[in-house]
Amino acid sequence: MRKRLCQPHQKGLRTAFFLAVAVASVVFNLPTAHAADKPEPGLVVTFAALAGDTVKATDVTVLPNVWLYVPVGKPPTPFLPAGKFSVEWAGFVSSEIRDNYTFQAELNGTLKLEINGAAALDVSVKATNTAPSKPVRLNKGTNAFRLHYTSPAEGDAFVRLLWSSREFGPEPVALNALTHDTVPELQKAGQLRFGRALFVEFRCAKCHAGPAPDAGIPELTVDAPAFEGLGSRRNYHWMARWIADPKSMRSTARMPKLVHGPKAKDDAEAIAAFLASLKSDPAPKDAKEAGAEQIEAGRKLFETLHCIACHNTPGTTENDPQKVSFNHVREKFAPGGLVKFLLKPEEDYAWIQMPNFKLTVDEAARLAAFLESAADKPEDVSAPTAVAVVERGKKLAQTTGCLNCHTLKIESQFKTKSLADLTPDKWRQGCLAENADGQAKAPQFNFASSEREALRAFAATDRASLARHVPAEFAERQSRILRCAECHGKFEGFPPFEAIGGKLKPEWMKAFIGGEVAYKPRPWIEARMPAFSRYAEGLAIGLTEENGLPPRTPAEPSIDMEAVKTGRKLVSANGGFFCASCHAVGSMAAMQVFESNGINLAYTGARLQKEHYHRWVRNPLRLDPASKMPVYFDAEGRSPLTDYFNGDAEKQIEAIWQYIRLGDKMPPPVEPQ
Ligand code: HEC
Ligand code: HEC
Ligand code: HEC
Ligand code: HEC
Ligand code: HEC
Repeated sequence: MRKRLCQPHQKGLRTAFFLAVAVASVVFNLPTAHAADKPEPGLVVTFAALAGDTVKATDVTVLPNVWLYVPVGKPPTPFLPAGKFSVEWAGFVSSEIRDNYTFQAELNGTLKLEINGAAALDVSVKATNTAPSKPVRLNKGTNAFRLHYTSPAEGDAFVRLLWSSREFGPEPVALNALTHDTVPELQKAGQLRFGRALFVEFRCAKCHAGPAPDAGIPELTVDAPAFEGLGSRRNYHWMARWIADPKSMRSTARMPKLVHGPKAKDDAEAIAAFLASLKSDPAPKDAKEAGAEQIEAGRKLFETLHCIACHNTPGTTENDPQKVSFNHVREKFAPGGLVKFLLKPEEDYAWIQMPNFKLTVDEAARLAAFLESAADKPEDVSAPTAVAVVERGKKLAQTTGCLNCHTLKIESQFKTKSLADLTPDKWRQGCLAENADGQAKAPQFNFASSEREALRAFAATDRASLARHVPAEFAERQSRILRCAECHGKFEGFPPFEAIGGKLKPEWMKAFIGGEVAYKPRPWIEARMPAFSRYAEGLAIGLTEENGLPPRTPAEPSIDMEAVKTGRKLVSANGGFFCASCHAVGSMAAMQVFESNGINLAYTGARLQKEHYHRWVRNPLRLDPASKMPVYFDAEGRSPLTDYFNGDAEKQIEAIWQYIRLGDKMPPPVEPQ
């Protein structure tokens, strides 16, 4: 058996890394002292903005690997200006046994790597793959790791560190081999990131005007459910209770409480009466009462689609406050409104966090039947229609700030201080008061003390970070908020989340996350990837740059038709590897699958980063130790099929790539006679 040295068993690891960051930011008041005992995943990364050789400002964070991609003219982190910068990655690299490794990099800039205090790699190049270092001895266990990088004078700044050994060819250093001890600066910098994220998530700038919404962090353009026609979609009584206190209805509500004082309940009811009067075409009513069969079919679908990744199970006492409950769906949705919502959750709210499962009308009806069967029975309260009440509600909606977040074509008469006027000393009052009583005019967000501290840390900065969009940080932030890792890495057969950014082309990833890819890559999985349209582009570019890869796939030379012929033979059973036993090729089904389905190879050219494709086919076990795809080539790069390219593995793999690039024009591989 092959020795599994520093097996890059990364499944769950990047997820664990994400979760560690997520947990740290959610419960930021936790002391980090305990962390010093045990190294944590990832490396401590210190960014420095440079003027000549002097450091102007620094920022520190934890990243999983030595991967970075900063397009020219863009800032390396939200807390530093664009321009010349340096980065230092520090921590440990571990090896399971004492052995020699070589290091090299894909790089534009200058790089110095030190292992256990000794120089290992020292290169300065422009956009190329560097020569491998001399062999570096790593001790068993942890070894001190320090890499210093400086951005280039011209072009995009990027670096991707690779290692190799006698056992394996150049590949990114295994994620589980990189660890760090926390340093005190991390707590402060993490708190600042958390504060900035809260500021956009809770839409502070909708009322306290700051930088132009389209000039920076994408969430400055975030919307809220549209008010137009709301009365046809939502019930009056539920709306009155929601407006009176959103957090009491859903602990993750972003909407603050805006009605205060002794008349709060009255005010909320008047506003709800006004909203209930805003009618559009009513949704078609559910045709007939759902039967037991329909409900049971809905329950099954609910399980198959893994709705529990973000929701509490209907009809149980399960109450994870981070998940959205269904108890109130009968109270909230007007007749027919639930089916309509399930079919297109983003219809009236582009940034909604509920993804679109592309349900059929039947599926939506079954799910709705199941959810309604377990929900609380609504009280029979109809909306007041007296003109005086509705008019009072309208006036309140115009004057309390509703229209700063929600759209409706009536004038807003609400004004408050601009962001620039909120000097740091003010961030203990108004929206950030510890004690909401007596803050008659300001919205109540009910922040935890750790959240208020984080917002204050953010307040103390120059807030220029709001105007700096760093895609990798957007992807990290939103994949946490959108709970991607609650499906990926949790359920069997789902592609591991940590692999996605380094594996897929950003163009395909954007289309796929956005729900624009017509086929299912893995038709044998019953679950489906739901669409997050408004987030797709930011996630795709961010996940790609986070892996040190460019936001646009570099053009490849046109397809080499001579190589295609060889590639086609190599894929066939006739003198080739018989890849088609597990992989469908275009309209030709896989021939002998035995529960080890591969993805249709006609999809692969548009999906995969070329470099990932090569590494995967060269040795799938290096990327997924549990993969059922065979290893065809030996560690020296030799192929058992010596008739083609003299048995050169890389040339054969490249020929298959040329064939795969034909996509839906791939002819089926040659069949056995
Ligand atoms: C619906 C509009 C609205 C939103 C959204 C909002 N605020 Fe406020 N904020 C107000 C109002 C109104 C006041 C009371 C001050 C005033 O009279 O204008 C206030 C007061 C404050 C104050 C105290 C200012 C002072 O001079 O006393 C701070 C600080 C503040 N808000 C921060 C925030 C932060 C941080 C967020 C996001 C988490 C936020 N606000 C979201 C409307 C809003
Ligand atoms: C990735 C997380 C995620 C998944 C998976 C998910 N949802 Fe949601 N869902 C949400 C969020 C977040 C909301 C709240 C949206 C809002 O109002 O801002 C929501 C809201 C809803 C609502 C409306 C509830 C309300 O109070 O407004 C329904 C109904 C719903 N989801 C059904 C489903 C069903 C059925 C599935 C499975 C097919 C599902 N969801 C899967 C995140 C998710
Ligand atoms: C700071 C932005 C903000 C302000 C101000 C605000 N809302 Fe909201 N509202 C939201 C968001 C975001 C949601 C979606 C649920 C959530 O995450 O809280 C929402 C949800 C709602 C809903 C439920 C809509 C649905 O279909 O799920 C109603 C009704 C509503 N708001 C009414 C109001 C009224 C009335 C006011 C003024 C008194 C108001 N909102 C002020 C942000 C805001
Ligand atoms: C409800 C569960 C669920 C959630 C939540 C979810 N995914 Fe997925 N995702 C899937 C499934 C299932 C697949 C595999 C689909 C297939 O191949 O047919 C998938 C596949 C993908 C793929 C393609 C990977 C590949 O190798 O083909 C990407 C990219 C992706 N998801 C990104 C995301 C992102 C980003 C998020 C969070 C914004 C997310 N997913 C949230 C279920 C989910
Ligand atoms: C025993 C079954 C089996 C055979 C034979 C096989 N593969 Fe695979 N292949 C798989 C499995 C399983 C996967 C992973 C599917 C997934 O990501 O869910 C895979 C994935 C791939 C991928 C990634 C596809 C994508 O779009 O993500 C490529 C490329 C690939 N195989 C190429 C080949 C080539 C070339 C051959 C022949 C030299 C081959 N495979 C033979 C089972 C097989």
